[in-house]
Amino acid sequence: MCGIIGYVGSRPAKEIIYSGLQRLEYRGYDSVGIATLGKKIKIIKAVGPTNKLDLDLVDATATTGIGHTRWSTHGKPTETNAHPHSYGLITLVHNGIIDNYQELKEKIGQPKLKSQTDSEVLAALIDHYYNSKNNLIEAIRLAISDARGTLGIAVITKDHPNQIVVARRGSPIVIGVGDKQNFVASDSSAIVDHTSKVIYLRDDQIGLITPNSVELFDMKLNSQEVSIETLDNNSELLDKGQYSSFLEKEIFEQPTSLGNVMRGRVGSDGSIVLGGPNLSQSEIQSIKRILIIGCGTAYYAGYYARYELEKILGLQVTVEHASEFRYRHGALEPESTLAIFMSQSGETADTLASLREAKRRGLKTMGIINTVGSTIAREVSHGGIYLHAGIESSVASTKAYSSMVVALLMFGAFVAYKQGRDASMTRKIAQELLALPNEVSLALENKSQIDKIARKLSKYDNWFFLGRGTLYPVAQEGSLKLAEVAYINSQALPSGEMKHGPIALVDKKHLSVLLLPEDQLLYKKNLSTLEEIKARGGNVLTISSRPKEKLSDFHLELAYSGEYTNGLIYNVYLQLITLAIATKKSLNIDRPRNLAKSVTVE
Ligand code: M6R
Repeated sequence: MCGIIGYVGSRPAKEIIYSGLQRLEYRGYDSVGIATLGKKIKIIKAVGPTNKLDLDLVDATATTGIGHTRWSTHGKPTETNAHPHSYGLITLVHNGIIDNYQELKEKIGQPKLKSQTDSEVLAALIDHYYNSKNNLIEAIRLAISDARGTLGIAVITKDHPNQIVVARRGSPIVIGVGDKQNFVASDSSAIVDHTSKVIYLRDDQIGLITPNSVELFDMKLNSQEVSIETLDNNSELLDKGQYSSFLEKEIFEQPTSLGNVMRGRVGSDGSIVLGGPNLSQSEIQSIKRILIIGCGTAYYAGYYARYELEKILGLQVTVEHASEFRYRHGALEPESTLAIFMSQSGETADTLASLREAKRRGLKTMGIINTVGSTIAREVSHGGIYLHAGIESSVASTKAYSSMVVALLMFGAFVAYKQGRDASMTRKIAQELLALPNEVSLALENKSQIDKIARKLSKYDNWFFLGRGTLYPVAQEGSLKLAEVAYINSQALPSGEMKHGPIALVDKKHLSVLLLPEDQLLYKKNLSTLEEIKARGGNVLTISSRPKEKLSDFHLELAYSGEYTNGLIYNVYLQLITLAIATKKSLNIDRPRNLAKSVTVE
């Protein structure tokens, strides 16, 4: 989605803004722009990647500037619609959506706008108030009081050459604190090369930033305390290193990221120590139902854990798409329900809106989040678990997924222990978890064998991913990955559902990926699915810990890592299949078309 970067200091702003925009590319965007503030404000824009910007056209000596990557919502991806937008004395970049922009246009007498964006209306509104109040902070305060919707903005004006003003409501803004220079960004990856000291702007806060100072104000313009936090991100994490894509790098980082999510939390004696969840013993005892909410891959991680948590805790566990949860009206039981919000970015608009709805309805809420200090992480009522997976740059989520599953398994074992359930079970979960990083490393060693088969599969344009039990959500995640990165039409189904309709699609041009489980009974049931597909002329890739079945056309064998974690080994294979096919098709692996890393619009 859209990204913001800004700089104020003594170095040429344009270089810093440009490299910040490149850091933000992973979020997904369709156009870019930079404004430098020297004697005058100069703006450059381009449709397409950052390298289309002609840097010679901005002021090389300017030491203040703002930049933006845009993912279109209002108006097409054109240079005119790209940010920064200038109106009168105001130049701004904006993330989010102003819902009442038509109404605001009328309020200020239908200003003559160049673009079709809600953001330019916001610039005009700030300019309107600036003209009457002659005070930029007051003008911004009045404008954002009028605006409905979400915003994260950075504003410059030629009246104040060494200053950027930022404000947020619902769309993140982080201020990077440097030595005689300061930065602003929509996420810390854009500034991590320059500083590890950051201030997270809160909703309805305004920040006034100069090279030597950061002042924060609330919506009554009272001064607010500035609290500086230290990032644990390392800028090396932002380089591909030996890998050809971030997707590949992040798939191969999983042994490390899985180790990180468990570090200090899982003991070899079966103990699980989680400092993040703020749940008292009596609150833990009272949990009778767990509701897991997320979008996309985060949702599928929750779906995987659902099967295991039901087994571990004997409770009712349901999984909801965040985009649907808000519109459901079923009775909730706040006393006995814990809602867990899953998000890599911690900023996904649907997940955040569901969190607010769950809190409004009195539920206890917890987060399983990768991005430290993100909005969801800060708004949950009962803490949660950070994944510590490091920055995930590829739009398609891989390492965050496996860490989310592990975080939920740890949480299940933690609750089981606190609720006094069978200690041998928590020991078994802990042992499987501790062995998992190594099991994943071994699975990754099979890459060349997987590549060989995947190359043969790339001729199929229509796929099914099939599994039962935990392998059904693994099939869902595999199918999403293939669709979003390799642009292949695919759907995931519980194997048993095939005969209820979808089997009608099977023909000799169709491929089914059948995930065969360890469990003897379920294995046999899946063999019937294999036979049914073969009888209709379909092609089948089987993946299992046993040798190839005669009927299967292609087969990949994997190691059995244990009942709780085995799905993650299948998942590694599916990740590698997608990577191999997208590579063969020469696609833009890290930035698939039409997608954004962090979806901050509903
Ligand atoms: O940042 P989040 O985990 O909240 O993001 C949720 C989804 O948007 C995300 O998982 C999306 O489905 C990815 N493209 C999957 O690879």
